[in-house]
Amino acid sequence: MQAGLDIEFVAMGEGKAKRGKSAHAGLLVIFAGEEAGLGQATRDMLGAFAATVDRAAKVAKFKGAAGSSLDLIAPDGVAADRVIAFGTHQKKKPEHETEYLNLGGQIMAKIGGAETVTIFCDLPGDATHPPGAVADLMLGLRLRAYKFETYKTKKKPEDEDNKPKKIKVSIAVANLAEAKREAKAREALADGVTLARNLVNEPANILFPVEFATRAKELEKLGVEVDILDVKAMQKLGMGALLGVGQGSVRESRMVVMRWNGNKASKAKPVAFVGKGVCFDTGGISIKPGAGMEDMKGDMAGAACVTGLMHALAARKAKVNAIGAIGLVENMPDGNAQRPGDIVKTMSGQTVEVLNTDAEGRLVLADVLWYIQDKYKPEFMVDLATLTGAILVALGKEYAGLFSNNDELSARLVEAGGKTGEKMWRMPLGAAYDKMIDGQFADIKNIGGRNAGSITAAQFLQRFVNDTPWAHLDIAGTGMASPSSDINQSWGSGWGVRLLDRLVADHYEG
Ligand code: BES
Ligand code: MN
Ligand code: ZN
Repeated sequence: MQAGLDIEFVAMGEGKAKRGKSAHAGLLVIFAGEEAGLGQATRDMLGAFAATVDRAAKVAKFKGAAGSSLDLIAPDGVAADRVIAFGTHQKKKPEHETEYLNLGGQIMAKIGGAETVTIFCDLPGDATHPPGAVADLMLGLRLRAYKFETYKTKKKPEDEDNKPKKIKVSIAVANLAEAKREAKAREALADGVTLARNLVNEPANILFPVEFATRAKELEKLGVEVDILDVKAMQKLGMGALLGVGQGSVRESRMVVMRWNGNKASKAKPVAFVGKGVCFDTGGISIKPGAGMEDMKGDMAGAACVTGLMHALAARKAKVNAIGAIGLVENMPDGNAQRPGDIVKTMSGQTVEVLNTDAEGRLVLADVLWYIQDKYKPEFMVDLATLTGAILVALGKEYAGLFSNNDELSARLVEAGGKTGEKMWRMPLGAAYDKMIDGQFADIKNIGGRNAGSITAAQFLQRFVNDTPWAHLDIAGTGMASPSSDINQSWGSGWGVRLLDRLVADHYEG
């Protein structure tokens, strides 16, 4: 859901792009290098106005540093109302791969009331820019433009001017074919992140487990195989932990398994992603305090990420066999809700004492993780879950917590995190922590006491992954109520879609 953003690529120096023709009554975006200033193609396009830009840059002490910009009114003869020069790296390689992604976001933020925008992608010092810079810029535009306004029936009058219904963006590039090809995969990724954000932002009266499953089913249009397991099917499998969480809700629980077979020839094991999908978490009988409870509509951000990721992989026809599995429940207090002290039997056969009904995410994941490793024997499992408030205490909103039984998988995740800006910090696991969740009346207890809350939660999950290489990402801090950034102004961030798409692209496509 975004303001109609219509992006096209055009060849620099041809027709429309030449002299910024498509930007009439709009905005022309140009780039300046840290030392080189404007590129030659930009100078040719601007004509006599180039000298004015140079002068203005001097007066405003605009040196083309990455992250800075210079805003100008265009004179007659330049086919635009405004011209903005953005600084980009010129000499050295960009420090972060996300530079052009963020630049796209910064450009989108400056569009103001313009209905037509031409971005003249004469990026200074071309050879030092990573491939895909233009596609990243496009992705940044899209992610920044995202808005969730499904339920707003009235527009604020002060917004009217500032919000054209449609924004037409032309990105003029030197190599049209290359830009178009690279942008295609990024479009798929943008759609995946958008889907994940939408799911997180939806309220729980609209997006309950059955409705979430219906939305996941729509991925069939992209060639994803989608199986929905209902309560009866899960009872048959013995998923007592997942079902126990959902039993207090009038909304039925579901599990969804999405399969994208993008590499049919491959004999390699599939990769698997598992998401916590608690569509609303009241805490159950161990009910949460009222203040801020509304945020718990986002307790399915892990499941949203997995769904958005499967969308992205399928839409860009990734050459990988990937499984996405999500456990969908609503955690409610009720006459039929589970009680503290209840003992449930998981699909693995292990029994769990539910000492706190608010530690429900691990109960849901226990059965989904077990099911996936048992049925598909994947190469690895990565689960994402808004699992513990404690991870916010430890890491805040900058980093997600990473827990893993496998150093290679961890290293690959951290690397992909650095490249995408979706960062993780690895936390410890170990026998001493594991002891903290040994049960008194059953095999395991679902809470481990006051200390190390995020770690004992991860230890709990580890008891359900068998020998499968596995990583758990605690995204309670990063998945929702996110601080705004260049590329995200949305409550639900869609965190993890770009990260895991990158993990797959870098290591598991063949
Ligand atoms: N969904 C919550 C965790 C959470 C908290 C997510 C804040 C996002 C923001 C989870 O189900 C939960 O309630 N965890 C408890 C565990 C405790 C009872 C051991 C928590 O963190 O307090
Ligand atoms: Mn909870
Ligand atoms: Zn929860």
